[in-house]
Amino acid sequence: MSKCGATGHNGDLACGFFDFVMTTILVLYYSRHGATAKLAQLIAHGVESVPGCDARLRTVPAVSTTIEASEAAIPVSGAPYVELQDLVDCAGLALGSPTRFGNMAAAMKYFWDGTSSTWLNGQLAGKPGCVFTSTGSLHGGQESTLLSMMLPLLHHGMLLLGIPYSEAALMNTNSGGTPYGASHWAGVDGSKPITADEKQLAIALGRRLALTAQRLQGGAHD
Ligand SMILES: Cc1cc2nc3c(=O)[nH]c(=O)nc-3n(C[C@H](O)[C@H](O)[C@H](O)COP(=O)(O)O)c2cc1C
Repeated sequence: MSKCGATGHNGDLACGFFDFVMTTILVLYYSRHGATAKLAQLIAHGVESVPGCDARLRTVPAVSTTIEASEAAIPVSGAPYVELQDLVDCAGLALGSPTRFGNMAAAMKYFWDGTSSTWLNGQLAGKPGCVFTSTGSLHGGQESTLLSMMLPLLHHGMLLLGIPYSEAALMNTNSGGTPYGASHWAGVDGSKPITADEKQLAIALGRRLALTAQRLQGGAHD
């Protein structure tokens, strides 16, 4: 952790020699039953394995087809709701959603539909991003969901990262884990534990994102 504060550049003279840029990675996810949330924790673990990087975990509220608001203003438990300022503050973004009919969940899509001001101001442009998902069935659309989550990030001008095949688990996995992003096969009742390969690939992706963000900031410590 930076000795000069949680995020960003701190010009306080008292920090002196130890003054450096802290690289904050936003790990933004939606999770109804907890599987995608577990992947988010692993991505954050990978981010924070890089000295000088910290992960900011955030979520989005559920949406409803009725007019009334469906969620409390503050989540009862877990990560706080994301604010547009989190997009401005971050040096990189990991975006996760459960697969819903081969696509990202409506709650996450709804959030991105409200980011016009961020887009107009280019506040994500040039920052690295990656994606992750969880499914009920093994061939139920992990890759299409990962690709669908890349679309808003591309419109925002982000630089997308996948997982390279130099990660041995990518070739060996018989559960989740793809070159397009991290994934977990949770099973029809969500009871499947995260496998060693899924875990390794999620951590590797978070680490790769953090290292890339740090290099783009010009402050690599690794
Ligand atoms: C409306 C709906 C649509 C879904 N569509 C798919 C799907 O297309 N493919 C699939 O494998 N699983 C699908 N699922 C299952 C979820 O993707 C799966 O349970 C996931 O692990 C949930 O993640 P969470 O625990 O983070 O909420 C769907 C679930 C719901 C509720």
